[in-house]
Amino acid sequence: MAKNKLKRFAAVKNFDNFYEPVIKEEFHLKGKWHAEHFHNDNPIILELGCGKGEYTVGLAKHFPNKNFIGVDIKGSRMFVGAEEALELGLSNAAFLRTRIDFIEDYFDANEVEEIWLTFSDPQPKKPRKRLTSPLFIDRYRKILKPGGVIHLKTDSDLLFEYTEEQIREHKYNQLELSWDLYGELPADLDSKTQDILHIRTHYEKLFTEKGATIKYCRFTVN
Ligand SMILES: C[S@@+](CC[C@H](N)C(=O)[O-])C[C@H]1O[C@@H](n2cnc3c(N)ncnc32)[C@H](O)[C@@H]1O
Repeated sequence: MAKNKLKRFAAVKNFDNFYEPVIKEEFHLKGKWHAEHFHNDNPIILELGCGKGEYTVGLAKHFPNKNFIGVDIKGSRMFVGAEEALELGLSNAAFLRTRIDFIEDYFDANEVEEIWLTFSDPQPKKPRKRLTSPLFIDRYRKILKPGGVIHLKTDSDLLFEYTEEQIREHKYNQLELSWDLYGELPADLDSKTQDILHIRTHYEKLFTEKGATIKYCRFTVN
């Protein structure tokens, strides 16, 4: 790991909005995020594969009455969002370092209200590892409240087409779907929703500079 990354990785471990569970030990906040971390009963929303956590921080600013948790395996990336959240005094934003594959070990049934998937790896050769594969959707179903919404924002035609197929095949309830988010953002969306969809992540900026069209959908699975 590069020196700067190592420094950030070491620093983030001391932040009180960052958790890195010890493998094989039961995670103390499972089922207790409200009582023991956020100290309120507000809804919990996850950003899975959050990288630097632009959505976690951006949404936390927009919705002071909701709680947001960015999840990623890369601690040095999450350092950026975790530090910003602390500097801004956003007590409704937190970060969890783990593989998303084990998400049920960190949240209880019905503990999560919504999930955001932001620029997830398309995994061209490993469909099972895509964050909208049946394997992952089954994991989300175990922690999401009934009717809990899953949002996907991506540059990837492959991942978006695959997700569209999954929605059709498994009869998920599609709430919104656009192959060109910024070109065809419905005019009747309220300004807050428009602002939210305009939050640009690190990867979104990289892909947009290369000419990618940004796609977005939201759906429910239970
Ligand atoms: C392409 S990046 C997108 C990061 C950020 N959401 C953005 O838009 O800038 C994908 C992120 O997902 C994380 N990731 C991919 N698969 C994961 C998994 N199974 N568990 C945890 N993190 C994962 C990677 O570490 C990486 O930070």
